[in-house]
Amino acid sequence: MLQNVVAINDLFQPLTVGSLTVPNRFAMAPMTRQASPGGVPGADVAEYYRRRAAGGVGLIITEGVRLPDPAAGYPFSIPTIAGDEVVARWSRVVAAVHAEGGTIAAQLWHQGAERDDADGVTPVSPSGVDGLGRAKGRALETDELPGIAELFAQAARTAREVGFDAVELHGAHGYLLDEFFWERTNARTDGYGGDLAARTRFPAEVVAAVRAAVGPDYPVIFRFSQWKGLDYTASIADDPTQLQELLAPLVEAGVDIFHPSTRRHYVPAFPDHDSQLSLAGWTKKVAGLPVIAVGSVGLETQFRSEKQGQVIQPAPVERLVEQFGAGEFDIVAIGRALLADPAWVNRLRDGELDGFAGYDPATALASLA
Ligand SMILES: Cc1cc2nc3c(=O)[nH]c(=O)nc-3n(C[C@H](O)[C@H](O)[C@H](O)COP(=O)(O)O)c2cc1C
Repeated sequence: MLQNVVAINDLFQPLTVGSLTVPNRFAMAPMTRQASPGGVPGADVAEYYRRRAAGGVGLIITEGVRLPDPAAGYPFSIPTIAGDEVVARWSRVVAAVHAEGGTIAAQLWHQGAERDDADGVTPVSPSGVDGLGRAKGRALETDELPGIAELFAQAARTAREVGFDAVELHGAHGYLLDEFFWERTNARTDGYGGDLAARTRFPAEVVAAVRAAVGPDYPVIFRFSQWKGLDYTASIADDPTQLQELLAPLVEAGVDIFHPSTRRHYVPAFPDHDSQLSLAGWTKKVAGLPVIAVGSVGLETQFRSEKQGQVIQPAPVERLVEQFGAGEFDIVAIGRALLADPAWVNRLRDGELDGFAGYDPATALASLA
């Protein structure tokens, strides 16, 4: 128990990566809200993030931000990042978070084939196929790829100018970059499809373009996942060797922090190889970079439970603390618990979370003295 207490306090120590110093190890997971009419984040958006920073979150990762191209995302109430008004409004969001002592990263998002085509805009993707393998939209031409990489780069440059402390590239959940990784959605024959190295090529080119745009010290976070919005059992890396093959080119291209998205942080990623180690732990091991863990932290209810309508229940975080103690991750992202309670992190720090057994603030203080 003493070990756990010490580890909890360690979660409240800062972490520096390049030009970013996160005051503690808690991030807010990116969560789409569709609350920015016309793509412009208003005062309510600034207040929404400010409250989470005031509640103790060290690093806000914004909801997915649409790249400034109509095909990149829909509906348009998802915020974007181009144009004077949008940029001015994001500056206020950033200032509000900074005023509370927090830091903030913009998550850059291209939805690929998962873009809703209700408005008649044709979705674009590696092979014109969605996450269920159905024809949707059209395949990108090879000579269009540099333009998409430049969209990411330009958005990252703008994010930096606005004052965001980092950018996160959304390469998870079956959206554009992930559609390149995944065999089901990538049947290209132009060198951007085929084996894992070829499927990683375009996302790595995007990372390189972003890195060139933001300079050497500005943190670039890359989010990826095995699971997809349309298939929880999907896999892009079947074993640790494949995970290494997937991540190495991204490291080479300039990623600073990986954010492997899992629905449950406590599930072993490759049980045949290790009965405990999470995807975050494996990512840290094979990539050698700081890692953000995520997935049902502090909640009894797993993310996107098959049992619809379940009430979200708080749960203890001992397993998370054990994983941190074992060096499996550097930062943990919290999603739904922060929607339910903007001050979740401060309540954890103060020992006020229900069901958090084994945490005694008095002992914790004594152990630090
Ligand atoms: C309402 C909602 C919106 C989400 N939107 C995004 C998003 O824009 N980008 C993204 O990468 N993940 C998104 N996610 C996934 C979360 O970032 C996170 O990985 C997931 O909620 C699991 O964490 P949790 O169990 O702590 O909620 C969303 C999740 C929720 C609940």
